[in-house]
Amino acid sequence: MTDNEHEIEQPDERVPKRVIGTPAPGTSMLGTAEASDVDRDVPGVTLQDEAKARKAEKIVALCFTITFVAALAFIISYVVFQVGSPEATGTSNLALGGSLTVALLALASGIVIWVRQIMPKYALVQDRHPMASAEADRDVVADTFVQGANESGFVKRKLLRRTLLLAAAPLGLVPVVLLRDLDNSKMPGAKFNAALRHTVWGEKTKEGRPLRLVVEGTGQPIRAADFNSPGGILSVVPEGYEHDLTALAKATLILIKFRPEEIKSGVRQNWTHDGIVAYSKICTHVGCPAALYEQNTHHILCPCHQSTFDAADGAKVIFGPAARPLPQLPITVDQEGYLIAQGDFDVPVGPSYWERGDAEAEARAKGAQA
Ligand code: FES
Repeated sequence: MTDNEHEIEQPDERVPKRVIGTPAPGTSMLGTAEASDVDRDVPGVTLQDEAKARKAEKIVALCFTITFVAALAFIISYVVFQVGSPEATGTSNLALGGSLTVALLALASGIVIWVRQIMPKYALVQDRHPMASAEADRDVVADTFVQGANESGFVKRKLLRRTLLLAAAPLGLVPVVLLRDLDNSKMPGAKFNAALRHTVWGEKTKEGRPLRLVVEGTGQPIRAADFNSPGGILSVVPEGYEHDLTALAKATLILIKFRPEEIKSGVRQNWTHDGIVAYSKICTHVGCPAALYEQNTHHILCPCHQSTFDAADGAKVIFGPAARPLPQLPITVDQEGYLIAQGDFDVPVGPSYWERGDAEAEARAKGAQA
């Protein structure tokens, strides 16, 4: 072995050790003690107060420790909580989601505090380029405009000019007219607009009796005693409005017959008759007719976007984009045993939109008072 080789193998004690995540030795790092003296004089750079920075450092360290613990909890949860049943899946989702949320939240908080409380602050000014076009370009545009105006005859041809201004006047008012729709008092859900909140089910016949439920297509009134096979479903419209498409757009119903033991708490019992329940057929998502019924599960399916409602439990949404149940219509029978409406729906039917929440809250409040 030569002397030269011997020198190469010896560790050099004078080379400073490199720490992972830090700049190479000899380079500056803003915020460090050495850099502070230099940077304190740089215009636009404000160094953090060292005492505050140390305090923040501890908080950041705590956040990162929480991230570590939560990330471990996530891994452990994945192993411990096995899926297999809806309950187990729910527990697993909760554990995984909760631990991951805490981990990411703590990590993000730590980074934000690090940047805001420890790193130096910069006042950065970026000069904008000139916005104006060159003088020559502006002259060309002005000449082109004047030339176009002259060639169009806008000044010379008075008839054209005046009719154009006449045509433009109402167009200018269009946005003003549309602004009216921003007035909440004109929106559904407010007392001024009953049109979208009510259906003809609240009306009476000429003789002053409540409307009967009649079969869609045939117009036959329905005797409760004849609609007696559990699992049966009928599409129903209001008597006297069989051909009124405007009324039917909101008033069409589905009628479902249940065994008493099948009906759950979501159904308003005093609005049913002998296990017969009436729901709006208008999907509360965007208004398609929801009338596909699965007898075994009591699910009503809307074919448009697959919203699924539990008919045995107040038509609550159990799947899909619809945000609220299909409204239930209060029904009973008249003296002749025909199904009739007790009154109108107590909530608006059809798609949800803003202000609808107010209407429903109002209806619930009324129901609670009654
Ligand atoms: S309209 Fe029924 S799910 Fe969309």
